[in-house]
Amino acid sequence: MHFYMPVRVFDERDCVLRHAKDIARLGKKALIVTGKSSSRKNGSLDDVMAALEAEHVEHLLFSEVEENPSTETVLRARDLFSDSGIDLVIGVGGGSALDAAKAVALVLKHPGADLSYLYDATKDASALPVVCVPTTCGTGSEVTGVSVLTRHDKRTKISMVHKIFPVLALVDGKYLKNAPAELIVNTSVDALAHLYESVLNAKADDYTRMTASAGLRCWAKTKEILTKERTASQEDLDLLMRSSLLAGMSIAQSGTSLPHALSYALTYDLALPHGKAVGIFLPAFLKAAPEAERDELLQLAGFSGLAEFAAFIGGLFGGTEVPEEERRRTFEMVAGNAAKMKSASFPVDEKVLETIAFG
Ligand SMILES: [Fe+2]
Repeated sequence: MHFYMPVRVFDERDCVLRHAKDIARLGKKALIVTGKSSSRKNGSLDDVMAALEAEHVEHLLFSEVEENPSTETVLRARDLFSDSGIDLVIGVGGGSALDAAKAVALVLKHPGADLSYLYDATKDASALPVVCVPTTCGTGSEVTGVSVLTRHDKRTKISMVHKIFPVLALVDGKYLKNAPAELIVNTSVDALAHLYESVLNAKADDYTRMTASAGLRCWAKTKEILTKERTASQEDLDLLMRSSLLAGMSIAQSGTSLPHALSYALTYDLALPHGKAVGIFLPAFLKAAPEAERDELLQLAGFSGLAEFAAFIGGLFGGTEVPEEERRRTFEMVAGNAAKMKSASFPVDEKVLETIAFG
């Protein structure tokens, strides 16, 4: 068994400001990598800038990260900043910004690195230090080495082969306070998918189950936020962030499985948010899993069984139409990927995959 979690995590109120010195220790000139607007609205960008200014760390801003960031965006940051003397990269935002930050930290470390570098496992994977400040509650990217990038040339999303773990994760539920309800739903279902796919995974072990069980217990307490049965307290927002982080620790050990594999083409072709594209396949994935383990996992998240879970997901995402030909395309892509077909903890042949892909 193997457990690797090299990220220093602070999960507490105002941790960006409180740990300004920990950021400053990592570099003298930071590149902040973020999206176009949300980090300005939720206060995270102001906090990061204030922390850097308090410690006299120079900083530049790259705020062009789009949802599902493309390799083109990563290479654009390389072109803009490779001669700027950047020695630290700070990702601020949702999974898109954090994943982009890791890839940018890699290409800035290796001048001349191009698209092929991101996908060539024989290349040096060292990168500039990365700090992550998550502002959504699904990705867990702040504690994983994974960077999922859109490949327009392949019409899907593909993880970079290099694992770039952040050095520091600064996690504060306050950044979720004004997040749109739909964003909370989508990202929180992504976190749930990470928890389930990491455990129902060929690579799962007792360490994965440790982080996933803790994550599911946190997640269970926030269910009624997603169904709008009550509004979120500050404690709920902290729990949403924490379940996402624990889910990230789980997938950092074992990876994801079939719902994620099936989701990528849907996100590309239908522009479905990641969490929704994954969530669509989640009930059928659990249905295909061994009954005793599935029921135990469902109970940890506060569900009495599969029927209640399917109704819950249906209530969140009901009405989302996925055309038959789209399900066919993603089914065929995954069926042809031997590694993905072996990623679940239970045997999956084309017949089983069909039940998951077509629901
Ligand atoms: Fe995900």
